[in-house]
This record gives sequence, structure tokens and C-alpha cells, in this order.
Amino acid sequence: MTASESDAIFKTLLESAKRLSFDSRSPLVCQAEPGDDERHGMTPEWSPLFGTPMWDAMSEAERVRLTRSEVAQFLGVGIWLEVGLQVALLRASHSANPARPDVKFLFNECADENLHSLMFANAVESIGSKFYPRDRMLDFFGWVFRHIAWDEVAYGVVLAGEEIFDVMQRDWMTSDGVAAPIRRAAYIHVVEESRHMAYARQKIRDRLIGISRFRRFVSTLIIAVGTHLVAKGLVNRRVYDALGLDWDVVRSNIDGNEHHRIMFRRAAEPFIEFLSKEGLLNFGARWIYRKSNLL
Ligand SMILES: [Fe+2]
Ligand SMILES: [Fe+2]
Repeated sequence: MTASESDAIFKTLLESAKRLSFDSRSPLVCQAEPGDDERHGMTPEWSPLFGTPMWDAMSEAERVRLTRSEVAQFLGVGIWLEVGLQVALLRASHSANPARPDVKFLFNECADENLHSLMFANAVESIGSKFYPRDRMLDFFGWVFRHIAWDEVAYGVVLAGEEIFDVMQRDWMTSDGVAAPIRRAAYIHVVEESRHMAYARQKIRDRLIGISRFRRFVSTLIIAVGTHLVAKGLVNRRVYDALGLDWDVVRSNIDGNEHHRIMFRRAAEPFIEFLSKEGLLNFGARWIYRKSNLL
């Protein structure tokens, strides 16, 4: 694809953003609905504990409490990614010509991301949940990522997060059993992120043209490591500690949960397909994706 063909894609994405974007700051987004108290934080099938002996032993009220805490963890990782991607991408574009179609779209994307982060924070608050401190390893990776991630690596890890959230949130937004603020936030996010994903895919394709085999090899592995840490970061022992659940039992239930593996593989499917098509899936990367239950 030529540079002008890519530019045409970026212009179309920006036009689409003008036509269909939401005001996620509207108080209506996070307004509770009657019956919300009994609704889950996310579709229960996405809980890493769903279907395990531990899950089966819980009352429905306990399950609701669990998924409400788990969704806060998931969305907390989402916010962390959205902020990290802005730092990485804006850093790389700081001196770029602001009239470039890709740079203009990036400005729009960052505006979206800030509003998403605010929306998620409000949604979590409105269902009475809170965010938990992340694993130190994840924060360390975030620090390194923000400072050194180069084009295809930055867009690759960002795309991983966006694709995985897209699959999950398509379920959340249509499920009557999910609390209204989360359902609405998921809908807004799915619509606006579809453009971000198209943007990231195009930026990666453009950047891969003519790169050396060595660089492709290194980038492939780093995208895999980043994605692995993000996927693992969705499960945080502090969530379960706060609910009074024994972490060792939780961990062994999650580790043995085939349903959880199937859901995560399903979530990663479009991303893995993209990587494979673009030549960003080598032996080492496959091994890492298998370790993270994404392949
Ligand atoms: Fe977002
Ligand atoms: Fe995004």
C-alpha cells in the first residue's frame, strides 16, 4: 500500500469519528437502572473463575460481588493501557507535522482515550467497586514501554489490548445481566475503538514495509511479551484477597479452568490472526502466547 492510500484510510477514520462519537461524560452513561444491584459487573462467563468448583460453591450475590470487583480490575488495566499508549504515541509524534492525516487521527484517538479512561473510572465508581494496585512487574513493564516502545511495538501492544477488550465488551454491552453503566460504557468503547484498531493495524502494516528480519524478529517477541503481561495482569490477587478468598485456592481454580482458557483464546483470536497475516508470529512468540492462554 502506498503512503497516499494509507493517508486516505486515516482521513476516512477521522471523518467517521466526526460522524459517530459519543459524549461519554454525560451523566446518563453511568446512571444506574432499577435492578442494577443484582446485576453483574461483566458477563459472568468472562470471570476467570466461571464454572470452577469455587464458582459453583458461591451464592449468586457472591458471584455478583466477584464480577463487580473483577471488572474494576479489567477496566483498570484498560485505563493503564490507554494512558500508556498515549505517552508512547505522543512521544513518538511530538515533532511530527500536525497536518499529517495520521497525526490528526492520533489527536482524535488521544481525545477518545482520555474520555474512555474517565468513563471507565466513573463506571467503576457507579457500581460501587474500586481499583486495585497492579502487580509491580506490570508497572515496571509499563514504565519501560512508555519510554522505549518503537512504532510497531507500541501499536502492537496497544492493538492487543484493544482487540481483547473488543471481544469481551461486545458480550458485556448486550447482556441484560450486566449493570447498566458497564453495559453503556462497553457499547461506547466498542464503537469508538473499532476506529483505533483499524488505525493501529494500518500503522503497523506501514511500519513493517522494508524492515530488517532482525528488527521484525525482536519486535515480534516484544509484542508477545507485552501482550502476555497485559493478559496476566487482568488477574490480580489483590482483588481476591479483598473479597476474603484464599489466593492459593483461587489460583489453582483459575489455572485448571478450561472455560477461562477458551474465553481468552476467543478474545485473542482476531489479534493472533492479524499477527500471523503480517508475519509477526514466530516460534518464540507462539510459545509465549500459549503460556498466556491466548493461542
Ligand atoms: Fe479506549
Ligand atoms: Fe484505543
